[in-house]
Amino acid sequence: MKRILLIAAVLFAAWQPMMADEGMWLPSLISQRIADMQAKGLKLSAEDLYSVNHSSLKDAIVLFGGGCTGELVSDEGLLFTNHHCGYSYIQRHSSVEHDYLKDGFWAMNRAQELPNPGLTVRFLVKMEDVTAAVLKGDKPKFTQEQRDVLIKKNIEALRKQETNPAKGLVAQVNALYYGNQYFLYVFQEFRDVRLVGAPPSSIGKFGGETDNWMWPRHTGDFSIFRIYADKDGNPADYSPENVPYHPKKSFTVSRKGVNEGDFTFVYGCPGSTQEYVHSEAVRYVQDISDPEKIALRTTRLEIMKKYMDRDQAVRIQYSSKYASVANAWKKWQGEEKGLRKNKIVQAKQAYEKRFADWAVGTRYEGLTDRLAQLYAAWEPVYRAYEYYNETVRTLERLNMATSRNFNFKDYYEPIDSEMFVAMMTAFDNALDDSYKPALFLQKRAQYGSMENWRDAVFADSLEARELARSLTDFVNQNLAPQVSALNQSINLLYKDYMQGQMEFEPEKAFYPDANLTLRIAYGSVAGYSPSDAVYYRPVSTLKGIIEKDNPDIFDYNIPQVLRDIYAAGGHENQPVCFLATNHTTGGNSGSPVLNAEGQLVGINFDRVWEGTMSDLAFDPEICRNISLDIRYLLFTIKEIGHADYLFDEMHFAD
Ligand code: ARG
Ligand code: GLU
Repeated sequence: MKRILLIAAVLFAAWQPMMADEGMWLPSLISQRIADMQAKGLKLSAEDLYSVNHSSLKDAIVLFGGGCTGELVSDEGLLFTNHHCGYSYIQRHSSVEHDYLKDGFWAMNRAQELPNPGLTVRFLVKMEDVTAAVLKGDKPKFTQEQRDVLIKKNIEALRKQETNPAKGLVAQVNALYYGNQYFLYVFQEFRDVRLVGAPPSSIGKFGGETDNWMWPRHTGDFSIFRIYADKDGNPADYSPENVPYHPKKSFTVSRKGVNEGDFTFVYGCPGSTQEYVHSEAVRYVQDISDPEKIALRTTRLEIMKKYMDRDQAVRIQYSSKYASVANAWKKWQGEEKGLRKNKIVQAKQAYEKRFADWAVGTRYEGLTDRLAQLYAAWEPVYRAYEYYNETVRTLERLNMATSRNFNFKDYYEPIDSEMFVAMMTAFDNALDDSYKPALFLQKRAQYGSMENWRDAVFADSLEARELARSLTDFVNQNLAPQVSALNQSINLLYKDYMQGQMEFEPEKAFYPDANLTLRIAYGSVAGYSPSDAVYYRPVSTLKGIIEKDNPDIFDYNIPQVLRDIYAAGGHENQPVCFLATNHTTGGNSGSPVLNAEGQLVGINFDRVWEGTMSDLAFDPEICRNISLDIRYLLFTIKEIGHADYLFDEMHFAD
C-alpha cells in the first residue's frame, strides 16, 4: 500500500509541472503561492517578486499607455513592449517621407529618440488591503445607498492621502471579489516616454489579421521606448533637459531560450476577466452577445475590405480601424466555440445546483435563483445597449456631426455610406421599437427606405446631428442608467455569491478577477491539441516565416533583407515565438515572460484562438499564451535595425 502511494506521489509530482496553472495572483500576496511556484521550478523567493522594503521584480514593470504592459531592460530606462502597443505612437511619427510603420524606426543615439505627448507609463509603488479603512463607519442598519456614500468618501480620503503630483504619485482603490475586499494601489507615473525602435510592420505585425489569435505564429511583436525623468529622477513633462530614468530594477535577459516543460511566469497587467459569474451570464455571451456581435462585425469588415482592396489610399486610412474591429471579432469566435466545446454553461449549471443544495439554511439560500431572475431582466436591456454600440454608434457620419475632434484624414465616405444602410437596418430589425428614440421612429416613417434616409443624412449635417443626438440621448438618459442600475443589483448579489463560493469550496485557492493591475501568472512551456488528431508544438522558428513568405500576400510579405539573411544560411533554427500555459488576457500584451531565475525570455502578446474563453473559464488543456522569444527581438535589433549598440546598456545572463 505504501509503495503504491509512493509511486502515485512520484507520478503526480512528475505530472504536475506539465499542468497548466489557472490564476492571476496578487503580487503582494504571492507568498501564498510561492511554495507551489517553487515546486514547479521557480528559483526565486516571494520577496524577489514583490517587496515594499527593497527593490524587486515589480519595480521593473509598467502599465504602458493605459492598456498594455512594458518592462525595463536597462538602468537607463530602456523599455520593451509590443509593436501593437506602440502602434499608434509609431503611426503618429509616420508620414509619406518617413513611413516608420512600414519601414521601421531605429534611433541610432539618444538625440534621435522621439517624444510621444500623451504617452504615460506607471510603476506600482505599493498595493495593500484597505478593506477595513474603506468600510470604516459602516453600520448594519445602513441602507445600501448610505453604505455606498460612506465607501466613496473613505476611498476619496485614502486616495488623497497617497497622491503627490510633484512626485507623480497617483492612487486608486479597487474593489476585489465584487467588494468583499478593497485594495489601494499607488503608482508613480512618468510622462516623458520616447520611441527608441520598432521593426517594420512586415515583422512587427507579420501575419496581420490572418495569423492574429492563431498558432503557429511568427510575429515579431515588439517596440522599444525609453523613460525620461528630470535630473532628480522625478516624472516631468517632456523637456530636452530630461535625462534617462534610472529604475529601481531592470530585467536581466537570458539567451538560453526555453524548452517544452520549462517553468515560466508572466508578470503584467491583465485587464478584465469574469471567472466566477453565473451560468446565465455565460449563456448570454455564448448564445447572444458573441454571435450577434460577430455577425455585425462580419458585415462591417466585408464593407471595409471591399473598398480597401480597391484603393491603396483607402487601405492606409482604414487599416487601423479594420484591425481593431477584426481583433475582437476573431476573439469572440474563438470564445464562443471554446465555451460550447467545453460545455461551460452546463458545467456552471451543475455547479450552481450543488451550491444551491449546500446553501439551504444558510444566508446564501436561493442566491443563484435570484441571480438568474436578475439576469432575465438585465438581458434585453444589455442586449440593446450592446446593439447600439455595435451598430449606430459606429457610424462615422453621425460621430462627425457631434464630435469636435473627428479625424477627417482617415475618413472615406463610400464606406460609411454603405455602413449606414447596413447598420441602421440591422439595428432597426434587431430591436423592439421601445428601444428606439421617438425621432428615429418618426424619420423612419418619413423616409420610407433606409437609402432615402441615408441620402438625407449625408446631404444635410443638421439631419445627421439630429439623428446622432437622439440616439446618444437615448443611450445616456435611458439605456445606460438602466444597465448601470441592473449591474449594481447584480454586483451586490455577486458580492454574496463570491463569498458563498469561497465557503462552499474552502480548499480552493481563489484569485480576484483581473482589473488592469499587476498580477503574476505561472505555468510552463507547452504545446496543445486544438482538435482530434492535431498537435501543435510550442516553438516556432524563422524557417516558418520563410515558409509563409509571399510577396503577393500583404500579411506575409517580409522585408527583402530578411530573405537575404535567411538565404545566407545559419538562421534556420532561429526561434521566433513560443507557447506556454500562463493565464493571461488583454492588457497582458507586452508583459515580461520570465524563466525560473526571473530572467527575461519572452514578451507576451497573444493567446491561442481555441483558448480565448479563458476570460470566463480557463481550460488547462487548450488555453495557451503566445510569447515572442526574446532571441528573435535581439536578432531583429541587430540584423534588421543594426541598432545593437542598445545591447551595451542591457544585462545578459548568458
Ligand atoms: N490579438 C492581440 C491582442 O488582442 C493582438 C492584436 C493586435 N494585432 C492585430 N492584428 N489586430 O491584442
Ligand atoms: N493582444 C492582447 C493585448 O493587447 C493580449 C492577448 C490576450 O487577450 O490575451 O493585451
